[in-house]
Amino acid sequence: MDTRGFYDELADRYDRVYADWDASVTRQGRALDTLLTAALGPGPHTVLDNACGIGTQSLGLAALGHRVTGTDLSPASVARATREADRRSLPLPVAAADMRALPFADASFDAVVCADNALPHLLTAQDVTTALAETRRVLRPGGLLLLSTRPYGELRRARPRSEAPHVHQGPAGRTVSFQLWHWHADGERYDLELFQLLPDGEGWTTRVSSATYWALPEEETAAYARRAGFADPLWHAPADTGFHQPLLAARHPGRWTG
Ligand SMILES: C[S@@+](CC[C@H](N)C(=O)[O-])C[C@H]1O[C@@H](n2cnc3c(N)ncnc32)[C@H](O)[C@@H]1O
Repeated sequence: MDTRGFYDELADRYDRVYADWDASVTRQGRALDTLLTAALGPGPHTVLDNACGIGTQSLGLAALGHRVTGTDLSPASVARATREADRRSLPLPVAAADMRALPFADASFDAVVCADNALPHLLTAQDVTTALAETRRVLRPGGLLLLSTRPYGELRRARPRSEAPHVHQGPAGRTVSFQLWHWHADGERYDLELFQLLPDGEGWTTRVSSATYWALPEEETAAYARRAGFADPLWHAPADTGFHQPLLAARHPGRWTG
């Protein structure tokens, strides 16, 4: 299954990979807002949520007053992000777009967020380089990139083969989500199989989908950011940010005169 197909198929039940998606929207929005305002001032800021999915970070940031635009490879995901924004009466313009070719003019945003392991869907050095260069292009001079991935330095050493189940309680019952990981021979990439057991009368319906990731260790991602022209890339640990993954913060090197 390709990446777009994986997320299109998952869009309507993506929230169920979280125990409580609404709580995560609020928590992640606050954590990102703290980093944004520490770097750029109180705002509100114009933010591109690049790989917004169904809106986990976009909605949290928009609720705090930032002017957020969401883009994602998956049209079904951005359509759901729009529905979620409407339900909360939040402004959230969205577009289906590939992070390797963003449909925005140079210097359009104060900040770009690319959160929850979206970049590792790009499987080659060329694609990672192109995406980071595009991100830098749409940032205004002095603007901020906030990018989160799994802690791949540690995971490349441990090579886990599964992730423990998460249980989501919804109106129709509980959904159980868990993952199997199948490492490629190169030791760098892996296929992830996501299993969801959905409540179905007295039993369960099982949905399985699969996607491929490139597990770039933190220092390699920072090196790609540097080569794409970002200044001062620095990883922040979850314990310091309250965000559930390590977050790379990096600046557009230019000087802001706006
Ligand atoms: C794990 S999801 C995270 C989504 C969202 N940030 C969140 O936390 O809910 C990864 C997202 O990356 C998007 N994605 C993967 N490859 C992409 C690409 N080349 N361009 C834009 N989005 C991409 C997927 O469609 C998916 O929505």
